[in-house]
Amino acid sequence: MSIALPARAKLNLDLAVLGRRPDGYHDLRTTLQAIDLHDLVALAPARETELTITGLPVTNPNHNSVLQALDALEIATSRHLPTRIHLHKQIPPGSGMGGASSDAATALRALAALHHVTADLTAIARQLGADVPFFLTGGTAIAGQRGDHLTPIPTQPMWFAIAWPGVELPTPDVYRAWDDMDEPPAHAPNHLTEAAMSIEPRLKEFANALNNLQGDPKHTWQMTGSGSAFFLRTTSKKEARQATSQLKCWAAVAQSIGPWA
Ligand code: C5P
Repeated sequence: MSIALPARAKLNLDLAVLGRRPDGYHDLRTTLQAIDLHDLVALAPARETELTITGLPVTNPNHNSVLQALDALEIATSRHLPTRIHLHKQIPPGSGMGGASSDAATALRALAALHHVTADLTAIARQLGADVPFFLTGGTAIAGQRGDHLTPIPTQPMWFAIAWPGVELPTPDVYRAWDDMDEPPAHAPNHLTEAAMSIEPRLKEFANALNNLQGDPKHTWQMTGSGSAFFLRTTSKKEARQATSQLKCWAAVAQSIGPWA
């Protein structure tokens, strides 16, 4: 038996940072939206665990989140679960679209099915990262606390143009920059935008260029998560295509996706 599943990306439709927590994380309030842009995770039982990766280049393949998910499931079940895993990356890494978290959650679901394992996947997902539990179910959710306490809400049909400047932004660096700001800005829709721009000044130029091309001040490109990708909500697929057609960077058209579990 083998299993292949799409690992969907997300966009943060808004993101408010409410303050720093004693555990070093930050309390958030954010609306998470799953979209149809996705990586692919394919699994088959094997004698020894092996991971191959194609598509967009990733740094540190030996520490890939898919292998971390396998380790965590082996520990939780006290079982050795040797698996041949192939990951095809299409979600830009370090872009704020949750690719690594989605790969981990998708690997957990697929591994549990492949090896007939029953375990509390939500608890394991939480250990793997604040965004990981969302990707067990997807759809649309308001996320609170570290971003891992989820309240599902109905998914609306939505189209997005997405642009990525090719810069990977490490999430911890962006939160550290937010901490270092004398008066952390609380500008809607994403409180982390200025922190991200302070560590990567090219992002400001990138966002300005996108908004100048767009030309309609009622619709602005906004950052997702801790960056570095930006998205524009459009009224149709055609409009999203038009918004990406003039861009020289990595760009995609995506639509909202409802829950899968
Ligand atoms: O949980 P995850 O591994 O995705 O988080 C990466 C880093 O982002 C954390 O180590 C922390 O520095 C920062 N973070 C945070 N508050 C959150 C989520 C992430 O400070 N709610």
